[in-house]
Parts: sequence; C-alpha cells; structure tokens
Amino acid sequence: MVLVAAMGRNRAIGVRNRLPWRLASDLRHYRKITLGKPMIMGRKTLLSIGRLLPGRETIVVTRDRGFVFPGAHVAGDLASALALAGARAAAMGADEIIVAGGGEIYAQTICGADALKITLVDLAPDGDAFFPAIDPAVWRESRREAHPASPGDEAPFAFIDYIRHTA
Ligand SMILES: NC(=O)c1ccc[n+]([C@@H]2O[C@H](COP(=O)([O-])OP(=O)(O)OC[C@H]3O[C@@H](n4cnc5c(N)ncnc54)[C@H](OP(=O)(O)O)[C@@H]3O)[C@@H](O)[C@H]2O)c1
Repeated sequence: MVLVAAMGRNRAIGVRNRLPWRLASDLRHYRKITLGKPMIMGRKTLLSIGRLLPGRETIVVTRDRGFVFPGAHVAGDLASALALAGARAAAMGADEIIVAGGGEIYAQTICGADALKITLVDLAPDGDAFFPAIDPAVWRESRREAHPASPGDEAPFAFIDYIRHTA
C-alpha cells in the first residue's frame, strides 16, 4: 500500500476541495506512478477530480450507502476498500495499491502503509486538508529528486520516496 500525495511545505494538500497549485509536471508524474493500479480515494477527492482517471481503477470510500459514481467501485469502510483493492490489484497484475487521498483517508491509512511517494511543493499555501506528519522514527527517505519549475508549474518541487524503517 503506497500513499501518493503532493503537499506544500506546510503539509497542505487541498483547499476548498481542490488542489492549491498548478503543477503540470506533477500531474504527468502522478499518471506514470499510478497507471495500471487500483486507487483508493475518499468521496470528496473523487468529486473534486470529477471523473475516473483512465487506465486505473477507482475505489471510492464513503459512508453514504446510496452513493453511486459510474465506473467506480464503492466501499463503505476502509477495510473493505483495502480488501477490494487487493483483489483488483491481483486481477490487474499490479504490484501496488495506491491510496490517493484526501486528508481524511491519508490520516487513516498512513499507519498501515508500506511506502509514501510525496511531491513536496515549494509553497506554503492556505489549506483545509493536510497530509499527516511523516514521523522520521517510522519513515526513511529512500529517494529525492529536486526539480525547478517548468512551464505549467507554479513552483519548484521534489519527488521524495519514503519506506518504513525495517527492524
Ligand atoms: N495534493 C494531493 O495529493 C491531494 C490528493 C487527494 C486529495 N487532495 C485534496 O484533499 C481535499 C479532500 O480531502 P478531505 O480530507 O477533505 O476528503 P477525502 O479524504 O477525499 O474524503 C473524505 C470523505 O471520505 C469518506 N470517508 C472518510 N473516511 C471514511 C471511512 N473510514 N469509512 C467510510 N468513508 C470514509 C467520507 O465520505 P462521505 O462524507 O461521503 O461519507 C468523507 O467525507 C481536496 O482539497 C483535494 O483536492 C489533494
């Protein structure tokens, strides 16, 4: 289970149910690392994206038993979302389950995650959704790749991978 998120220096990931920046490079990176994999996301994140992302399977978590989004799997709690994502990963031949946010879902899944793939955006925007603290006693940075802002990017950013400390 891999949590994939873009966050500001203040850990902000969203404001008023949208992303707080424009970062075309990160959208390309996001597509590359999530393609062919099942993705778990909260109902607010799915509605914020507003559509299914092609080449991936979406499992949306909601407590609303009547919620329907054509083409998405709907789970009533995180345990059933994870079980369904595991089954879909096996069927798709995927080696990872992606947890795609938002803040509520990251907070409830970071304890059980195997890895984090974070885009650290060099901004500290207003936010109302945040990524949880990344405890250095639990998480070890395994890779960092810094990028200047390209056309379509509002700020410089870095791709940072974390894995759990072993032992
Ligand atoms: N920067 C990034 O990488 C990134 C990634 C994803 C999202 N975002 C941003 O994050 C914001 C959305 O995050 P958010 O924290 O407000 O919402 P969210 O986590 O996307 O969704 C919250 C909703 O998920 C459902 N939910 C949460 N826990 C559940 C559980 N244990 N069992 C069943 N359902 C559960 C509930 O849906 P119901 O109310 O329907 O019951 C809840 O209202 C947006 O601004 C979005 O743009 C940013």
